Amino acid sequence: MGLFGKGRERAPKVDFDHLPRHVAIIMDGNGRWANKRGLPRTAGHAAGAETFRRIATYCKEIGLEYLTVYAFSTENWKRSEEEVGAIMGLLKKYLLEAIGQMERDRVKMRFFGDLTPLSQELRDLCRRTEEISTHYEGCQVNICLNYGGRDEILRAARAFAGECAAGRAVPEQLDETAFSGLLFSAGVPDPDLIIRPSGEVRISNFLLWQSAYAEYYFTDVLWPDFDQEELHRALASYQGRSRRFGGVT
Ligand code: FPP
Repeated sequence: MGLFGKGRERAPKVDFDHLPRHVAIIMDGNGRWANKRGLPRTAGHAAGAETFRRIATYCKEIGLEYLTVYAFSTENWKRSEEEVGAIMGLLKKYLLEAIGQMERDRVKMRFFGDLTPLSQELRDLCRRTEEISTHYEGCQVNICLNYGGRDEILRAARAFAGECAAGRAVPEQLDETAFSGLLFSAGVPDPDLIIRPSGEVRISNFLLWQSAYAEYYFTDVLWPDFDQEELHRALASYQGRSRRFGGVT
């Protein structure tokens, strides 16, 4: 069991009293999952959305504080209109359900990314979901939508430069804490563990600033097949690591 889980070993024991505070997931492999079954890619996204529901529910049950998922990147607009439409449709379906169950689930939701290119309907749903759940104190689920790590950093840099140009700030005021506060993720602790299923071993513009000291877990398992047991492997792998944050232990 190391950085790269093969998805075959028996799941090791997880210490649920010492979970990472914040787990982030790149939900990858939906297309390949569908191809393997002779299904359209959109069927893979539908299966991926189900996996997201199950994993988010489980994360809430085990008391995870923050779960962040990469649902749609700034680069995903390059996909066919049909595929983009299908992903947006799944998000709409999920948000409508989430709004309906919010009082029961009390999951706090945030969206990271520039929502302006989304449909008015989807933007309204995102805003309503955030507003309704703003005071909930359970698990917080952050959905990255039209999100790119570089885009996020550029926006923060531009916003601060604007403040300086307007005479409301001086460059010396900008430190890591202040910069973090200008990102989409303002107020959310950095991810402790980032999981990427599907066998790809890259970051793909995900949480570039926030991942400075994150631990990574890669697995061959495709996202629609990702289950509790695979999450346990990721958590156990994380718990077996020694985090030094650049220091010595
Ligand atoms: C990456 O797999 C996945 C996406 C770009 C979309 C993820 C979207 C969902 C799981 C559905 C909607 C989300 C929510 C939160 C309800 P890929 O298509 O790149 O897979 P591939 O690399 O195998 O082609």
